[in-house]
Amino acid sequence: MGFSKWISLVFILHASLALPVFSKSSLSPEDLAQIPVNFLDFAKRPELSEWMVDIRRKIHENPELGFQEFETSKFIRAELDQMGIAYKYPFAETGVLGYIGTGLPPFVAIRADMDALAIQESVEWEYKSKVPGKMHACGHDAHISMVLGAARILQEHRYELQGTVVLVFQPAEEGGGGAKKMLDDGALERVDAIFGLHVSSSFPIGAVASRSGPLLAASGFFEAVISGKGGHAAIPQHTIDPILAASNVVVSLQHLVSREADPLDSQVVTVAKFEGGGAFNVIPDSVTIGGTFRAFSKESFIQLKHRIEEVITKQASVQRCNATVIFNENEKPFFPVTVNDKDLHKYFREVAGDMLGTQNVKEMQPLMGSEDFSFYTEVIPGYFFFIGMKNETQGQFEQGHSPYFRVNEDVLPYGAALHASLAMRYLLEKQPKANPPKGSFRDEL
Ligand SMILES: *[C@@H]1O[C@H](CO)[C@@H](O)[C@H](O)[C@H]1NC(C)=O
Ligand SMILES: *[C@@H]1O[C@H](CO)[C@@H](O)[C@H](O)[C@H]1NC(C)=O
Ligand SMILES: [Zn+2]
Ligand SMILES: [Zn+2]
Repeated sequence: MGFSKWISLVFILHASLALPVFSKSSLSPEDLAQIPVNFLDFAKRPELSEWMVDIRRKIHENPELGFQEFETSKFIRAELDQMGIAYKYPFAETGVLGYIGTGLPPFVAIRADMDALAIQESVEWEYKSKVPGKMHACGHDAHISMVLGAARILQEHRYELQGTVVLVFQPAEEGGGGAKKMLDDGALERVDAIFGLHVSSSFPIGAVASRSGPLLAASGFFEAVISGKGGHAAIPQHTIDPILAASNVVVSLQHLVSREADPLDSQVVTVAKFEGGGAFNVIPDSVTIGGTFRAFSKESFIQLKHRIEEVITKQASVQRCNATVIFNENEKPFFPVTVNDKDLHKYFREVAGDMLGTQNVKEMQPLMGSEDFSFYTEVIPGYFFFIGMKNETQGQFEQGHSPYFRVNEDVLPYGAALHASLAMRYLLEKQPKANPPKGSFRDEL
């Protein structure tokens, strides 16, 4: 069934039932299953797909780092104005919330992140980043374009929405915890559920992947200064060597995962930074080390944090050094575990399966990467999934955060149609729920 035919079907339903909007019971399971198919057809039309490509390229050319997405945010608001979509601004400095539908509950949110990375783009193409040292190397330009594409689809169907879709454009996903600030500013106050996605070069175009429960790890960063007493490298007895102490600290930290953690409870401790000394014949005064730690439960995460601090200070003291450890939570907030709601997983498999075929809705293993979408899943039911963009005939697509990262722009209609279908059918199929209690989240992470 073509899109226009489907619209007329909906119209006939309205007319024959003499209702201002149709209710859940007025749509058969077949009608519901048809929505994602029609939305994908619509999104693949040149009128919409080329518009999304254009948006994505404009944003790609003008990348902005976390909490500095002023032009990106302005651009998004201009597009929302063009479509006649109401919005609120600002949330968390540059964040924007758009609203489509009745303005009444239930509320369902679809989310895009807006920030780029401090990377110099190495891809030579017409729409290369115009800002030296900054690049959309994680695909957030595509994420914005997809939510705007979904907005266009949903705006066309605004009179059929049985509630309100909230478009969430948030700043600073890359380590800044923009999602947390959005929540602090009340962005999800009346929202019943939220969906988010990430482009992925691990899955083929036309496929999606996710899982129920924990999907992405909790993450934190640490930095430690290990102080000794510098001096002549040939007269060590008059020094306190922080290089040796720091080396032992690095080795001891490895035991946290290999000897203290349950082997079936995945965790990571990585020391990624080691700075000290500048000459071959001088023992320095101090060494700075730093790294990241990951876990899949709050308990394991808190235990790791506690032990990292303890191991660094105590191991340093074995070598007569002092150590100070900071976790720098103000700049790099700890990200909680991204946990997918069980019911939303079932719901997602239905909607995505109707659009892509069930064989293209893949179950995946959890990843040790992290996402600040996790802050949302701590307070309301949320669902995060990966959307494939691998297509061998178009060459290799690098993983995110590579200076050679490319987006396969064929993915844009899939993302837009999925966002729109998940939101629209959620409002049709789910009844309004009471708001969750506030202020109880993130007590320790
Ligand atoms: C470690 O701290 C103690 C107490 O402040 C101080 O007396 C000592 O000199 C420090 N040692 C080093 C190697 O910095
Ligand atoms: C993969 O890329 C080729 C070449 O651009 C294209 O013809 C084909 O349709 C793409 N496949 C999918 C599933 O999009
Ligand atoms: Zn990233
Ligand atoms: Zn990302």
